[in-house]
Amino acid sequence: MNAETPASLANPNSIEARDRRSVIHGLTDLAVHQERGPVVMESGRGVWVRDIHGNEYIEGMSGLWCIALGYGQKRLVAAAAQQMEKLAYYHLTNHRGHERVVELAEKLLAIAPVPMTRVWFANSGSEANDCAARIAWYYWNAVGKPEKRKFIAHLQAYHGNTIATASLSGVGYAHQRFNLPLEGFLHVACPDRLRNGLPGESEAEFARRLLADIEALILREGPETIAAFFTEPVLAAGGVVVPPEGYFAGLQALLKKYDILLVSDEVVTGFGRIGEMFGATAMGLKPDMLVAAKALSSAYIPISAVLVNDRIFEAMMRQSGELGVFGLTMTYSGHPVAAAVALEALAIYEEEDIAGRVARLEDAFLGGLRRRFRDHPRIAEVRGQGLLAGVQLVRSRAPLAFFPPAAGAGKLWAEAAERRGLIVRAIGDTIALCPPLIISEDEIAMLIDRLALALDDVEPLLAP
Ligand SMILES: Cc1ncc(COP(=O)(O)O)c(C=O)c1O
Repeated sequence: MNAETPASLANPNSIEARDRRSVIHGLTDLAVHQERGPVVMESGRGVWVRDIHGNEYIEGMSGLWCIALGYGQKRLVAAAAQQMEKLAYYHLTNHRGHERVVELAEKLLAIAPVPMTRVWFANSGSEANDCAARIAWYYWNAVGKPEKRKFIAHLQAYHGNTIATASLSGVGYAHQRFNLPLEGFLHVACPDRLRNGLPGESEAEFARRLLADIEALILREGPETIAAFFTEPVLAAGGVVVPPEGYFAGLQALLKKYDILLVSDEVVTGFGRIGEMFGATAMGLKPDMLVAAKALSSAYIPISAVLVNDRIFEAMMRQSGELGVFGLTMTYSGHPVAAAVALEALAIYEEEDIAGRVARLEDAFLGGLRRRFRDHPRIAEVRGQGLLAGVQLVRSRAPLAFFPPAAGAGKLWAEAAERRGLIVRAIGDTIALCPPLIISEDEIAMLIDRLALALDDVEPLLAP
């Protein structure tokens, strides 16, 4: 990785050595980390980040799919500073409030892709999805169906890492040795045709087969026991999977038939990422709850939101009236500084028509990736929408053959990209790309060049 790292680790006072002695890193092999230490970032500007040794990288993943407006956005900094001066903190419990959170809630309701009536605030995508699950339970109790307690989500999808949202997430690493998933968190196949489609199956047949499996699961479990279905409009950490045509229409028909709530997890897709302000609009979803985080503040400060529709809020209000309280609360729910930053981010998305910009850049980005890798024998497909892409590395494209997971082929490619000055993420053998939405066409061309060069670099290491 970083050529400077070993020397830095040898120095016990280096930041890398101090990190090894003090910090626990997520999604990291903690034992390997003791050997190789971290890549320590120091500064960022636009789509670029620089580490403490002066190496510069294109941040091709927006950090963790989040820093949508890039680094050094002064308006967001100013919004935070002004709000800290004026009212650094207030909370929303016991009938208290503040101006910024009202403005932010009004704005989110105004731009929501379907009619929504109230907003609950939290601090991360995990918390917001966790709260959406809690609200679903609260709702079904309010309407006299307390047995509706189970949740359904996709295998491979990621919805967070609290106890409930790690249970929703269909990824083994969040479950293994953590005693998860909890009971009642059910998973259905990921709508990834390359991996899960049958030979000769058309896109429509694939969608119909998955929907039939979902209906069979609902009937097996009993529709009267299912509270909600969580899905992302495009499954990001699941490998950038765009569900097949007809899948979401059929899914929503099933949910309606069996009276199951739909939660659209827009933690990645919200605020322009796939060329519309919300992924629900792009993919034709009509959710009962919509969860936003990450780009809501362009990651400058933690904040997340759950938008709920009238059906849900009416029942919440009635039940809380009976109980004398709505018992969900968090110290930093609707934090005024975070709300001020989010409001400013939303103003920038609108003023600069960021969603329109993303739609216009799709051809340079996704089209560019497709053109570059069209004839490459190791690339099976480039999936995605807007400025979100998954480039699928395979052992052989024709006939289609995957690498064994233990080969770590995707990881090798991602590491080579980093040496070339491009940060990407390997999700298995899918290289995920999610650059800041302010990326220029020239920077997109550089990103694609560096990714292609990195693939040439690793070719000698890949099995024939
Ligand atoms: C779709 C989706 N939902 C939820 C989360 C969890 O968000 P957070 O990491 O802010 O808790 C993520 C994080 O990557 C995500 O991609």
